[in-house]
Amino acid sequence: MVNSLDSDYYESEDPVWNPALLTIPVPGIRKMVNLAATMNDVIHLSIGQPDIPAPPHVMNATIDALQAGQSGYTMDAGLPELLDALADYYGYRSGRPLTPDNIIVTTGATEAIFLALQAMSAPGREFIVPDPSFMLYTPLIRMNGGIVHSIPLRAENGYQLDPQEVIDAMGPNTHAIVLNSPSNPTGTLYPRSTIEAIVEEAAFRGIYVISDEVYDHLIYDDQEYPSVLSCCSDLDHVMVISSFSKTFSMAGMRIGWMIASQGHIKKLRRFHMFTTTVANTPCQWGGVAALLQRELSDNFIKGMLEEYTKRRDRLVELVNQTPHLTGYKPEGAFYLFPSLPAGVNGTNVALRMLKETGVCTIAGDTFGDALSNAIRISYSTSLDNIEEAFARIIPWMKEQDFG
Ligand SMILES: Cc1ncc(COP(=O)(O)O)c(C=O)c1O
Repeated sequence: MVNSLDSDYYESEDPVWNPALLTIPVPGIRKMVNLAATMNDVIHLSIGQPDIPAPPHVMNATIDALQAGQSGYTMDAGLPELLDALADYYGYRSGRPLTPDNIIVTTGATEAIFLALQAMSAPGREFIVPDPSFMLYTPLIRMNGGIVHSIPLRAENGYQLDPQEVIDAMGPNTHAIVLNSPSNPTGTLYPRSTIEAIVEEAAFRGIYVISDEVYDHLIYDDQEYPSVLSCCSDLDHVMVISSFSKTFSMAGMRIGWMIASQGHIKKLRRFHMFTTTVANTPCQWGGVAALLQRELSDNFIKGMLEEYTKRRDRLVELVNQTPHLTGYKPEGAFYLFPSLPAGVNGTNVALRMLKETGVCTIAGDTFGDALSNAIRISYSTSLDNIEEAFARIIPWMKEQDFG
């Protein structure tokens, strides 16, 4: 006879998960992509990773590392050569002296975001998060009982964040502000004045700024990139997160990092040892090549920016020609977040559009509650795909009557 307790424990369809996991929504992206996988002839405007292969010098350095036997663990904070290269590189870019002790190498920016938010969130603590935003932040805060104070962004001003709204939202329980510029899902780049105003007021009040800067090299029209690192007077209250995923098309190689005060890095190293231990060793060598072989890397980034700029410009034109969609010109990343008429449900539109035209986009409410009448379009796909997608979307939209 089977022991009923054992069978309940191992076979129950409703296992006893930690209730904190209920804060994780069914990802809107997965729903769409899973449905698309059952269909033929789908064009994806849904992908959040570069479609360009990683540069050869990075791939070769990774392969060389493996062949040289670099398949063991690194030091917990990261490969010393990568920490040195990151410290030099960020020191140069931000004009602020940094040492390897200011850095921890993580399994993608995702692990750095996880470490920062899980280490900080606690019942009663408030976190200011723009809405819409990358979907990881809110669940990671709520999992530990933290409270999310959303700042709704508005389509009519290109989803810019009003620093005064952020400052007005700061209260006695505010623990941290999460920034992501340029933004996923909107591609909006915050100007230096916005970052400076927020960082300055936050430092004055002892509030942390966690800045997700994974798209810091995907900036168009020669605009300057104001990293939080170049807008703060010290590192006491800032955590800057980035990775190689987007800049060097290394998303699957999983190398990211956080830059913060030495005290914070010391504490987070302990947490990191209890989560992923270390990041992928051969790919950290790939990262060293990305940072040190500057000429090759600069050429790669330049080529990538030229390609994305062409796509963005064409996408903006196509969205402007599409009935019921209102666009704008995003300054960075590879996303556009056009609006549908007020009150129209973006989830329904994205689902019907996928089923009826075979074009896969992502519904706006995947990224927050404020803007359900929007869809996210990624232009991390070829110009041909973008043209073909809109050759289907425009006539389909003409037929829609959103009343
Ligand atoms: C804003 C943002 N942050 C972080 C990530 C995750 O980056 P990584 O691949 O380095 O974990 C993504 C990936 O889409 C992103 O869009």
